[in-house]
Amino acid sequence: CKTVTTGDVATYIPQLARQDPNKWGVSICTVDGQRVSFGDSTTPFCFQSVSKAFNYAILASDIGADEVHSYVGQEPSGRFFNEICLDGNNKPHNPMVNSGAIIVTSLLKNEWQMADRFDYILNEYKKLAGDEFIGFNNATFLSERDTADRNFALAYFMKECKCFPESKQSLQDTLDFYFQLCSLEANCESLAVMAATLANGGVCPLTGVKCLANRPCRDVLSLMYSCGMYDYSGQFAFHVGLPAKSGVSGAMIVVIPNLMGICMWSPPLDKMGNTVRGVEFCKEMINKFKFHNY
Ligand code: DON
Repeated sequence: CKTVTTGDVATYIPQLARQDPNKWGVSICTVDGQRVSFGDSTTPFCFQSVSKAFNYAILASDIGADEVHSYVGQEPSGRFFNEICLDGNNKPHNPMVNSGAIIVTSLLKNEWQMADRFDYILNEYKKLAGDEFIGFNNATFLSERDTADRNFALAYFMKECKCFPESKQSLQDTLDFYFQLCSLEANCESLAVMAATLANGGVCPLTGVKCLANRPCRDVLSLMYSCGMYDYSGQFAFHVGLPAKSGVSGAMIVVIPNLMGICMWSPPLDKMGNTVRGVEFCKEMINKFKFHNY
């Protein structure tokens, strides 16, 4: 996959535009804690939209899937990830597109102070990663906030449509928190452990700590399968047949339930916003190994 040279680094957030397009790393962690890594597997990168999967699973473990889904649906949107649109019930289509992820963020411990909310998520991510590297990139957060006109427009549209829960938090706080969660950092090694925790029913394979409740762990994999790769989700499910989530930093996770989690990172993206090398790697993997669900 190193020889694949198509795709473009995301340019709409200035800090992401500075990522090296030649970077390419892969890490695997099995449900019994076996590890292997290739390439740039210890270089930090931002979660970006990969955070959407974990935020949903953490929230649903905290307040229950039924409560979460009274605000956000489960249907693929068939639209670009940041489009200003809602489903027929006036809710975001699913938690994996920006609209749904902003609502999920607004529900996360929303009676708490901002600092405590941030600390809470950071600690949950560290638990999921078995205490391996989780950081925060303040430059990306600031850069993203400065260029977030689309997310502001989306949030105001959802406010008009009464999508948000009752709470004292401002729209600015909700969006700041959303940008902060996009700007959390991992590397391939730590993110593979987080993916392996999803593969292992919410139990971190390195520490044995139960991080997620059973149903949210199942539900997030269903949502990743149907909605995790944006408007390529149907094709990815067809060709690769595994739950996955990607982000505009070039990060991507794939979960093989009861077996392992895989993290791939390479900044050049295709037109949908998915890492080109990551998608290619998954297709080649499925040609060699019988991991496709069907
Ligand atoms: O909301 C945004 O624009 C980003 N911070 C997250 C988007 C993202 O990663 C979409 N991925 N393909």
